[in-house]
Formats: sequence, structure tokens, C-alpha cells
Amino acid sequence: MERLDKILSGTGRWSRKEVKELVRAGRVTVNGAVARSPEEKYDREGLDLRVDGEAVSGEKYLCLMLHKPAGYVSATDDPRQTTVLELLPPHLRRVGLFPAGRLDKDTEGLLLLTNDGALAHDLLSPRKHVDKTYFVRVDGVLDESDTAAFEAGMTLGDGLECLPAGLERLERPDEGLVTLREGKYHQIKRMLAARGKPVVYLKRLTMGPLTLDEGLAPGEWRPLTAEERAALDAVRRK
Ligand code: URA
Repeated sequence: MERLDKILSGTGRWSRKEVKELVRAGRVTVNGAVARSPEEKYDREGLDLRVDGEAVSGEKYLCLMLHKPAGYVSATDDPRQTTVLELLPPHLRRVGLFPAGRLDKDTEGLLLLTNDGALAHDLLSPRKHVDKTYFVRVDGVLDESDTAAFEAGMTLGDGLECLPAGLERLERPDEGLVTLREGKYHQIKRMLAARGKPVVYLKRLTMGPLTLDEGLAPGEWRPLTAEERAALDAVRRK
């Protein structure tokens, strides 16, 4: 059994203070009846929770899609640098969210924030084959030989062995789409540096079934939709 304000604020849509106001205004119903108190406790299982008549999922864990801007580190705390968690409002910094997978400080794009450790573990497990795609711009010109090298699986100068990866060239000769099935440290930068074409811009566009929402400006975030969560659950069952 958990408090109504905990369940509702845990969705990431309202702070506890906002939940209190919603309940006071009679805008929240639980199992068909107007909720009387934000402190009342309920079982999440089978809960019919609504705000202004719209069903709200009482999921235990939170999953947010963040459009990570450059300049933020993919960590929960850091003594010197600004973390991606600092892009969230205060009430969401206290619910145990962490980034599921890392992007470099200067990399932009799709970052999943969750407090579901088992979900993060599954998405990052090589056994689940969660592909990630990145838009990349290099200092140089991408050609057939780069695509072939990526497809063959590169071994870098420092001995790092990379799984076969995709490199689709785009209209501009210095731009491409890279698909990775793993996420080793600075992997794309290292692979392209090894090809003599250093990365000048990198942005993650997809992660498994999730695609960066074009409506999110850098620094903006939103909770995953029910469809996106279902798609992640399907990956986990694989
Ligand atoms: N590869 C990189 O080099 N950096 C990232 O942030 C992600 C993939």
C-alpha cells in the first residue's frame, strides 16, 4: 500500500505539492470515487487512477526520455560537472533516477532516465541486442571503405574489438548514421578516429524501440508513453 501523493508524483507529471492541489480541487478519482486525501494509501495493483478523468498509470518505476544537451555528464552526481539530473525539477531528483547507459559530455540526444535497475540492466545487456543509432558528423569525408570497416567489426589500435556496426552515409559527405549494438567508452569517436575522421558532432537518435521525440528541445524531457513502456517490456521478454 502506498500513499496517493507518492503514486501520483512518482509518475513525474506533478510534484507532491501539485498533487495536493489536484486532490483538493477534486480532480483526482481512485477506483471511481473522488479522492479525499493525498495521504490515503492504495494498492497499485489494479488501481483505477484518474486525473480530470484521464487514466494515469500507477507504475512503480519511472522512465523519462531526455533530450540530452551537450555540456552535461551522464551521472547522478559529480563534484565538479553538471549532471543530466540537474535538468530535472527538484521533485524528480529525489526519486532515484539514473541514466540507463551513458552519453559523453559533448554528445547530445536520447537518454533514458529510470529508477528501475532491472530494466536498465536488461537494456544494457549485450544479450538483449538493443541497437542504438547515432547521427554523426566528422572532420573528413565518409566513404565505402568506412562502411565496410564498420561492418567487418573493427579492432582498434589499443586492442579494443568492436562488434560489426552499421555506417550509413548521408547526403552530406561528412555526415552519417551509425548503428551500434554495444556501448564501449567513446566507441564511435574511437572507431572514426581510427579511420582518420574524427567526430565533430554526435547525437543519439534511437535506443532499441525508443526514438528521440523531435518535440523535445535539448534539455527537455517527458515521461515515456504507455506504448513506449510496452515496447521496452517486449525487449526485456526477448
Ligand atoms: N560513442 C561515443 O563515442 N560517444 C558517445 O557518447 C556514444 C557513443
